[in-house]
Amino acid sequence: MAFFSKSTTPVKSQPPEQDGALPVHVAIIMDGNGRWAKQRYLPRIAGHRAGVDVVRTIVEACAAKGIRVLTLFAFSSENWRRPEAEVNLLVDLLLTSLQREVEKLHKNGIRLRFIGERSAFNAKLIEMMSSAERLTADNTGLTLVIALNYGGRWDVTQAAQQLARRVEAGEIRADDIDAAMMETRLCLHGLPEPDLFIRTGGEQRISNFLLWHLSYTELYFTAILWPDFDARAFDDALASFSSRQRRFGRTGDQVEQAKGA
Ligand code: IPE
Ligand code: IPE
Ligand code: MG
Repeated sequence: MAFFSKSTTPVKSQPPEQDGALPVHVAIIMDGNGRWAKQRYLPRIAGHRAGVDVVRTIVEACAAKGIRVLTLFAFSSENWRRPEAEVNLLVDLLLTSLQREVEKLHKNGIRLRFIGERSAFNAKLIEMMSSAERLTADNTGLTLVIALNYGGRWDVTQAAQQLARRVEAGEIRADDIDAAMMETRLCLHGLPEPDLFIRTGGEQRISNFLLWHLSYTELYFTAILWPDFDARAFDDALASFSSRQRRFGRTGDQVEQAKGA
């Protein structure tokens, strides 16, 4: 299918024609676990645990639909500000969920990738991330990107540092730096930019997620708390996406003409 071969192209210099289509890359802020638990008089971690089941549902839905990339915000660089007990339980949950799921993901042809500053985590989790990436590196199904200790500002800053080092080393000139070169140093390098952003839990903010990459992403907010998000709710988000006209700065008429050409 033409749609899929197009999706494997890395970063596009030309805006893609997406109207009426599935997104190639979906990025999700999975929010509302704590409130879901609170409503049930349960500890917050119970909400995070319930959220893991939803991850499985949405990963399966993406794989079944042929969506190429799914990026999930699992732990932000600001989430360290939470009570230590919650952070520890969250890190444990990440580790055990990964341990449990990696083989199955691999068998289903899913390629795993982690973005974010890893050095903050314990050695076991760091090793787990690297080995999962190595194991699944050649898979050609869905690419599942998990953002852990990720922050959009950190990502742009570390990219700037890498390029500044190249300038210092005399390898490039400051004037050589353009958006395409910046992109090569960002964590999502090599993957298409998100077409659809979903945030559950009712808040309408980006919370330092993919700041660079969301510049032309379609934004979708739902009040549904993450543990209650399901395949049908995901379909609603996809339906909203498919009804939108993406103009990338052009006029609506231009977009219509290009489609007809
Ligand atoms: C999202 O749910 C999960 C993480 C940030 C790790 P929250 O834990 O933020 O849930 P609320 O927003 O408090 O309901
Ligand atoms: C964003 O949710 C981060 C993740 C879902 C991992 P938060 O719950 O941390 O966002 P804020 O603090 O409400 O903006
Ligand atoms: Mg939250």
